[in-house]
Amino acid sequence: MKTGKSFKAHQPVDLYFGSGELVKLGEVVAALEGAPKKVFLLTMPELVALGLVDGAVSSLKEAGLEVVVFDKVKPEPSCTHVDEVAALVRESGAQVLVAFGGGSVMDVAKAAAIAATHPEPTWMYVNLSNRPPLDIEAVTLPVVVVSTTSGTGSEATPYAVMSNDETIQKGTIKSSYIFPRAAIVDPSLTLKLPPRLTAATGVDAFCHALESFINIPNRNAFSIMVASEAMRTLYKSLPAAVANGADLALREEVAWGSTLAGVAIANAGTTVAHGMAQPLGARAHLSHAETVAIFTVPVLRNTWQAATGLFAEIASLLDPQRVLGFSEEAAAEAGVDMVEEFFKEVGMFIKMKEFGVKEDILSDLVGDITGYMSRPLAQHPKVFNAEEVMKILKEAY
Ligand SMILES: NC(=O)c1ccc[n+]([C@@H]2O[C@H](COP(=O)([O-])OP(=O)(O)OC[C@H]3O[C@@H](n4cnc5c(N)ncnc54)[C@H](O)[C@@H]3O)[C@@H](O)[C@H]2O)c1
Ligand SMILES: [Fe+2]
Repeated sequence: MKTGKSFKAHQPVDLYFGSGELVKLGEVVAALEGAPKKVFLLTMPELVALGLVDGAVSSLKEAGLEVVVFDKVKPEPSCTHVDEVAALVRESGAQVLVAFGGGSVMDVAKAAAIAATHPEPTWMYVNLSNRPPLDIEAVTLPVVVVSTTSGTGSEATPYAVMSNDETIQKGTIKSSYIFPRAAIVDPSLTLKLPPRLTAATGVDAFCHALESFINIPNRNAFSIMVASEAMRTLYKSLPAAVANGADLALREEVAWGSTLAGVAIANAGTTVAHGMAQPLGARAHLSHAETVAIFTVPVLRNTWQAATGLFAEIASLLDPQRVLGFSEEAAAEAGVDMVEEFFKEVGMFIKMKEFGVKEDILSDLVGDITGYMSRPLAQHPKVFNAEEVMKILKEAY
């Protein structure tokens, strides 16, 4: 196994972490290379209604910046939506994009930064396992993000995820040019995130850490360190944060775990549960976090036997007392039990059929997972064939 003692670690995002850090947004943007004068700020109507966006706009204006506010970003965005937003960005003449929101807003900003400066439709830059993307050039507009969920880690990643309603696919743009120039992670912005969204996004973050930890070809000493701390932090603080969303100290812990998990996937990537989640999201229109939660435990139940050392390490990270004196095998299985119990505690041990998903899409999903989304299969500790993928899908149904 690759232990990761010779590797490249990369984290180019200027990170401003802490409650109240939003006030720095204006000075951070104004200080970017080229001293931008006009900002295109992307957000969602819910965040405007909550009164959260005002602080961002006033900070930008106080720094002498002109601000165009676009508050109609759609959740779980499609490539068509990105193309529409990119046209508005171009028309506005803005020199920098500011994303104020969760993963959907951050990803639309990152993808629009490419689409506004490149000739082809956004989907052509998405990296599918069976179709190479078009080249992305350094000309992308700079992006600064303010994350308002603690889940995707998009503030620290070179990824932008989107669906394609025509091909019924969901895929990811991957380019170092869309690392945000700066990210503000101000956990006080998450105080009003409802319990269900806190749980779903927190579980997504936990899965980023876990999948990067078990991504054997890509893990390295840096990603392992970061993922370990992210898993530990989220396992400890997420259930309490779901139960008591007004507790700022807990929100800070969850936000920190989530950002660390983003750093982990920026360096080592995700694996099979995420690879299965994207096609389900495209076909059944469930949120990213829900689809990840649906697949994680069934995938792990079919994986730990192939990597008992790794899973025993996960168990020791999450609850060292519980596995004291256990054999490697027993500790590994206990690690999966811990993940299942953790999901149950936050209400995210969920099945496809609870969402009204029709069973007949399972065979389409096998085609998607072994086709355009097959790369993660090769990065998993156990390489599943189509039959095994179907077995997992049935267990997750
Ligand atoms: N780029 C990456 O590295 C990466 C990683 C994982 C997922 N994603 C993508 O991110 C998207 C999902 O992002 P998400 O899970 O953050 O959800 P989201 O951005 O879609 O937001 C979900 C809902 O939460 C609301 N919301 C956001 N912040 C809030 C707050 N502070 N208070 C109250 N409500 C708030 C939003 O208005 C929205 O209705 C998906 O498209 C997914 O594919 C990207
Ligand atoms: Fe995710």
